[in-house]
Amino acid sequence: MKELLYEGKAKRIYTTENEQIVLVEYKDSATAFNGEKKANITGKGRLNNEITSLLFLQLKEAGIDSHFIEQVSETEQLVKKVTIIPLETVVRNVAAGSFSKRLGVEEGKELTAPIVEFYLKNDELGDPLLTNDHILELNLATAEEIAVLREKALKINTVLLSFFDGLGIRLIDFKLEFGKDNQGQILLADEISPDTCRFWDKNTNEKLDKDVFRRDLGNLTDAYENILARLGGHQHV
Ligand code: C5P
Repeated sequence: MKELLYEGKAKRIYTTENEQIVLVEYKDSATAFNGEKKANITGKGRLNNEITSLLFLQLKEAGIDSHFIEQVSETEQLVKKVTIIPLETVVRNVAAGSFSKRLGVEEGKELTAPIVEFYLKNDELGDPLLTNDHILELNLATAEEIAVLREKALKINTVLLSFFDGLGIRLIDFKLEFGKDNQGQILLADEISPDTCRFWDKNTNEKLDKDVFRRDLGNLTDAYENILARLGGHQHV
């Protein structure tokens, strides 16, 4: 029997008959600014499920394992059960969002090299930025694990940058989450979707990600459908 294990802002996690495997259901809810702005957007769950599935498959082809097993319906996928490391790993190629705001760097400025940042996954504290010493002090990861997370994040960035470039999309920045499987191996987990990445059209710089919702820039599902279409995914007309 399928039992609800966890409900987050954008997904529900259910048990399956296999205790090493869980079912992820993508919801239609959109939230921003740590839940302050909320909306129900029909079709968003399907779009993020399809896009995440295609990206995890793409990464697998490039030799990067994740928790992803298979997409099983429009809004659901089966994944390996992992214990999520409570860190949000952000990779930035171009200045935008909180980086621009905090450091006064104009949005759209190409960074000289990709930047990796870690944030504490904690809604009550508003996901604060962490230094490596903070991570060690709070026992969130060891120095070796921090190095592994950084290395994996940069490798994923290299693969995704060139993949999206071929689709006419600039990968501005994105957030990853990692988990540990029952062998203690660190695996890429969660999702990679327009909810967790900034995608700008290469020619027009049109925003094709959650900033459309955060900043009221237009229709969110049109933007996400645009990304799915370029990935060659199943579209609803
Ligand atoms: O807001 P900020 O500029 O720090 O976000 C960097 C990237 O991480 C963006 O692509 C954003 O969508 C993603 N992010 C996320 N979940 C968060 C914070 C940021 O997916 N809680």
